Amino acid sequence: MDIIHSVSALRERLQRVPNNVFVPTMGNLHDGHIQLINIAKPRAACTVVSIFVNRLQFGPREDFDRYPRTFESDCNRLRQAGVDVVFAPDEKEIYPEPQTFVVEPSDLQHILDGAARPGHFRGVATVVLKLFNMVSPHSAIFGKKDYQQYIVLRDMVRQFALPIEIIPAETVRAPDGLALSSRNAYLTPEERREAPRLYQVLRKAQAEIAAGVRDFQRIELHGMSELADSIWKPDYVTVRRQSDLRAPTPQDRELVVLAAARLGRTRLIDNVEVMLR
Ligand code: PAJ
Repeated sequence: MDIIHSVSALRERLQRVPNNVFVPTMGNLHDGHIQLINIAKPRAACTVVSIFVNRLQFGPREDFDRYPRTFESDCNRLRQAGVDVVFAPDEKEIYPEPQTFVVEPSDLQHILDGAARPGHFRGVATVVLKLFNMVSPHSAIFGKKDYQQYIVLRDMVRQFALPIEIIPAETVRAPDGLALSSRNAYLTPEERREAPRLYQVLRKAQAEIAAGVRDFQRIELHGMSELADSIWKPDYVTVRRQSDLRAPTPQDRELVVLAAARLGRTRLIDNVEVMLR
């Protein structure tokens, strides 16, 4: 496994590789990330993983400084997983000058997580476009855990005609249902015990929709109130259509229930898809 820090060395290493598949990350790797790598590996001659905590996607009051950085153990996990190339640039390598050109996603960037995190998806889209230009992958894997991020990046690739296939991966969970996330490390033991409730609320909403309930507003209010009466501060519980995360019309069959809530100091997000027959 090659660990590469500069764009020039990366381009040199990948020059003769016929195709590569790319998994962008911010490090502090868990089984969710490893699943993306397992999906990537059989698809290409070379699996490239980037580790870069992207300041541009963090708000001024967010956790950029305390985001967990665990480079040594990440590399050990990546070696075990059979990754070929780790790209671990420092900030100067990605942003040698102030990033005055940015990718401005559609209105999608202002709803749901975008409403709570202004500028977040602009920062994500901008860094991912830069990473794509550095790695030149033929495909890239993204987790559905970050559903809105996946939709934003899928649309970016389509609208800019980037020759990259975007492959979504299912959410990997702890045995009690909590979606794995680097931010779970911030939870106190008490909060960690409470955390699976977010997924339980989503599963309940999913079951109600599957059972034929079509009053989505009631489902949403119900989900919000289940989170409000404990140590949670819910941000949204909402039923959307998968295609563009807008409110579903009666014709829509492919739905997703998304939720975000603060548990103590930690903001958790999760979602479940629902297919209507
Ligand atoms: P990060 O949070 O490190 O996530 C990297 C990738 O792992 C993303 O595609 C994310 O959706 C996926 N992932 C995280 N937890 C997962 C889980 N429990 N199950 C399945 N997939 C999971 O997302 C980012 O980094 C950044 O925004 C990035 C795209 C790298 C741009 O900076």
